[in-house]
Amino acid sequence: MTPLKQMPAWKALEAHAATLRVKHLRELFAEDPKRGERFNAEACGLFLDYSKHRITEETLKLFAGLAQASGLEERRAAMFRGDKINITENRAVLHTALRAPREAVIEVDGHNVVPDVHAVLDKMAEFAESIRSGAWTGYTGKPIRNVINIGIGGSDLGPVMAYEALRHYSQRDLTMRFVSNVDGSDFAEAVHGLDPEETLFIVSSKTFTTLETMTNAHTARVWALAKLKEHAAVARHFVAVSTNAKEVAKFGIDTANMFGFWDWVGGRYSMDAAIGLSSMIAIGAENFRRMLNGFHAMDEHFRSAPLERNLPFLMGMLTVWYTSFFGAETVAVLPYDNYLKRFPAYLQQLTMESNGKHITLDGQHVDYQTCPIFWGEPGTNGQHSFYQLIHQGTRLIPCDFIGFARSLNPLGNHHDLLMSNIFAQSEALAFGKTPEQVKAEGTADWLVPHRTFEGNRPSSVILAEKMTPEILGQLVALYEHSVFVQGVIWQIDSFDQWGVELGKVLAVRIIPELESPTEPELRHDSSTNALIRRYRRMKSRA
Ligand code: F6P
Repeated sequence: MTPLKQMPAWKALEAHAATLRVKHLRELFAEDPKRGERFNAEACGLFLDYSKHRITEETLKLFAGLAQASGLEERRAAMFRGDKINITENRAVLHTALRAPREAVIEVDGHNVVPDVHAVLDKMAEFAESIRSGAWTGYTGKPIRNVINIGIGGSDLGPVMAYEALRHYSQRDLTMRFVSNVDGSDFAEAVHGLDPEETLFIVSSKTFTTLETMTNAHTARVWALAKLKEHAAVARHFVAVSTNAKEVAKFGIDTANMFGFWDWVGGRYSMDAAIGLSSMIAIGAENFRRMLNGFHAMDEHFRSAPLERNLPFLMGMLTVWYTSFFGAETVAVLPYDNYLKRFPAYLQQLTMESNGKHITLDGQHVDYQTCPIFWGEPGTNGQHSFYQLIHQGTRLIPCDFIGFARSLNPLGNHHDLLMSNIFAQSEALAFGKTPEQVKAEGTADWLVPHRTFEGNRPSSVILAEKMTPEILGQLVALYEHSVFVQGVIWQIDSFDQWGVELGKVLAVRIIPELESPTEPELRHDSSTNALIRRYRRMKSRA
């Protein structure tokens, strides 16, 4: 593989970037007044305006050139085909199979996985409907009223995000809660006020060995059995979502109540696998299928749309563009929809666990930046908090604004007020306010620099008609595939996560040192040793 920076296509983009770094978006709009009507693309139910980016038609051609030189289309085909593109774990990457229609054929090692996917979906649907209808009762015969998902990372962030995003579609007499942190307070607050007789725990863990999840699951069992007494009650109050039947059985959960998935589904790509069981219970099987249809529609768009109209491609390349050629270190994701309040947190794992890597597929250290830091909050709240820095700070922060034409809760003129802010913010970021404009308003000379907005801050605006299960699926798949595009260009394996291992191993070594009744012999560095000693002293004083 030719190293990225030695590719002529990369060098061409680098030379081109030099001409655009000194151009203001005001100039780009002045030179091409209709760019706002042309630099946009639409797919399924999503409209993307990318005209307020520091690009020209030439940039798009060079993006396509780099994609071609990087073998993007072949890599994309390899992913959809089920090739083992996760090379460090020797695994296929087939989250797209999770939303493939029943009649599709996708093979891993000669085995068509689509019937397996649909068998699990059908089993989930049957179970979800039995909880929703009250047909599934707890051990003492009471219907389940509370559902608690225990999981972390991909086994938590997707379910939480989807539940919040689609809460409007949820069955309101079911209480849905989520426990992820090994901090006991997370568990204690999640079960606060709940009756074990009416509570179902979904233990969600791909590996079923994750320390946080297993600790919480054991605590949940103790909590439930304190009231239910009989061990046989576990079967009515605990189900598992995992790829590891052996560990599930060891925990005491009947494997008949296990919902499986496969090693070709990465944790952060699993919210539409059985990991979505809590979502399905909340919104029902029909709405869950609508969400999968949304994912699938975006998959098909990514697979078949020409690059210049391909949303994930455009968004992925824009992230590469600012990260690699403009020194941008972060991307802000700013949903103007309260239901999407956990979307930025969800995207943090999706983007940064996927592309936060510094070793190429060839095993070389990269000599360029890879994944930027993704962050964000619902938009209008952010405006009264960190937007100051986006407008007048010293860093370039490309922004993704996400908004809807219609509110699910139309109240007076709330929605127009909300949406006016998206349009105003992207306009202000791009065009700013010149010193001349500020002066013309009668501002005192000394105050003019403070009140000037330089502008030239790029943003995308993503619009959809209203928040639906389909649209949520499309949005998530849009970012999944954008992450894929970035990973291909940066020549990294977007589907492993070795960077999380060392901390886990060290924590396991440290646990007995914290718990030992006698002073342990510590063999860490002097800082870690001193911290452990101080923690032990503070703990014993308390
Ligand atoms: O912390 C890393 C990680 O492996 C994530 O990739 C994953 O989503 C999370 O832990 C949870 O893993 P599991 O589902 O196996 O409990």
